[in-house]
Amino acid sequence: MVMIVAIDGPGAAGKGTVARRLAEHFGYAYLDTGKLYRAVAKRLLAAHADPGDAQAAEDAARTLGPEHLADPDLRREEVARAAAIVAQDKGVRAVLLDFQRRFAAHPPGGAPGAVMDGRDIGTVVCPDAPAKLFVTAAAAERARRRTLELRERGEEAIYARVLEELEVRDRRDSERTTAPLAIAKDAHVLDTTELDADAAFAAALVFVVARRASRLV
Ligand code: DC
Repeated sequence: MVMIVAIDGPGAAGKGTVARRLAEHFGYAYLDTGKLYRAVAKRLLAAHADPGDAQAAEDAARTLGPEHLADPDLRREEVARAAAIVAQDKGVRAVLLDFQRRFAAHPPGGAPGAVMDGRDIGTVVCPDAPAKLFVTAAAAERARRRTLELRERGEEAIYARVLEELEVRDRRDSERTTAPLAIAKDAHVLDTTELDADAAFAAALVFVVARRASRLV
């Protein structure tokens, strides 16, 4: 049986770093599911289509290929903004749900497990995952991290604007009707506000090791 680690949480809470490091530690496959929504959004922007155009968005989701997921522009702010709109579309979510479930059932390379991070992994995509983490942090701290990250990439970033955009996206993610951002009943909440990347990983590792062990008894 494939071991699934589901990691959800708001943007810039540190879930990507925790997820990547867990996958590396256990030799599991890793899927950043936000990339799927970003890739759909990027394709629409490139085609000068409206991110709210459901038909165009669903077509883009259905024909998504590995080349679209490797696009370095996916981290850009305008793509993130459009991705939050695309992610509200039921049809897009249905197409991407299929892809994500296939990844979880058959991790690439025959890996014995999968770590997936997103907003609805523990609640919708993999509700039976044996290990569910909800990684969060105070909005002010998330905005501070995102501002630094953007500046390191050479993008202009004003803290107050980054915070405002994060809060708008949080609201969009939490209030949408299909698969909103929510803490699964059986998720372990990891608040990284006061933790650096190593401490966050260490805490997540303790939790996943315990969940793996309980699965074996
Ligand atoms: O985690 P991220 O910033 O790359 O996500 C981009 C957008 O996609 C964000 O608005 C949340 C949305 N998303 C989602 O709705 N469900 C997921 N499983 C992953 C991301």
